[in-house]
Amino acid sequence: MFTINLKNDTRFICASEDTILIGAQKENLTLDYSCKTGRCQSCKAKVVKGTSLAIVEETGLSEQDKTEGYILTCVRTPTSDLTLHIEDLSSYSLEKVKTIPSKIDFISKISSNVIELHLRIPPNASFNYLSGQYINIIKGDYKRSYSIANTSSASNLVFFIKNYGGGRFSNYLFNEAKINDLLRIEGPIGTFFYRKTPKTNIVFFATGTGIAPVKAILEQMNESHSDLIDKNIYLFFGGRNEEDLFWKPDFKNIKVNFIPVLSRGNADWNGEKGYVQDIVLAKKIDLSDTVLYACGSENMIKDSRVLTIENGLSEDAFYSDAFISS
Ligand code: FES
Repeated sequence: MFTINLKNDTRFICASEDTILIGAQKENLTLDYSCKTGRCQSCKAKVVKGTSLAIVEETGLSEQDKTEGYILTCVRTPTSDLTLHIEDLSSYSLEKVKTIPSKIDFISKISSNVIELHLRIPPNASFNYLSGQYINIIKGDYKRSYSIANTSSASNLVFFIKNYGGGRFSNYLFNEAKINDLLRIEGPIGTFFYRKTPKTNIVFFATGTGIAPVKAILEQMNESHSDLIDKNIYLFFGGRNEEDLFWKPDFKNIKVNFIPVLSRGNADWNGEKGYVQDIVLAKKIDLSDTVLYACGSENMIKDSRVLTIENGLSEDAFYSDAFISS
């Protein structure tokens, strides 16, 4: 048994065979996480003191991260007492993960390779989540992870799902799924959700269907907008072609500076061209006074993190949820 010390004088006891993430959960603490497989970086933590062992390769870390003393708590077991520069999130009242039935309420193509799916959950299921979290959708013996694209104040769960081709689940959703099909959902999962901040700028990066949790968070901000009056909210939504930008913000209570960005825009495209992380630098936003939420491809997340932190963003002001292929 080892003692794990966190920011704000929080500590817990972790067994040597448990990962730090699981040890924290056993003690009713919540640390940042998403994939739990060492690939997405959500659980990245700076070691201030102590030693630990990686039980699988930490592919989410760069060589520089490792040199600078970062670990991924989802795949590390302690080998001594540890002091980590991360915080406990249990004050956010995250719901326990559970599995419940659901039925397809709506399914429709919204671009050539993305569908919008609505799942109806039983009224007595009391399925609550924080906007930005994701779930696993289960059909038979296979399951896939998808971010919920709306707030928990709605009766249905909404998803944007991209067809990556070839997989059994994609084949089912794009060719066979119909209204009232019975599925199971497991969740809510992950810690990608909005946290109140004293910083002035709130910036979102999304690529492709990574817009789903960002849309949910923005909807929640629109519903609870009183402390956002003096904030500048930016959404950089990136895609290859115009049809990838299948959603745009339209809110009554918050003003969102919407910057669509195409990496392969044709000659008619008048918007920004390139990658979201490069465009944010061109906009001269003071990154030292910014929190940034990024959801989308692993490469976008990795590049964004490096580039924005190099340009003034605080390390602990970068929140991400990377889409990991399974
Ligand atoms: S790398 Fe640990 S949760 Fe994804």
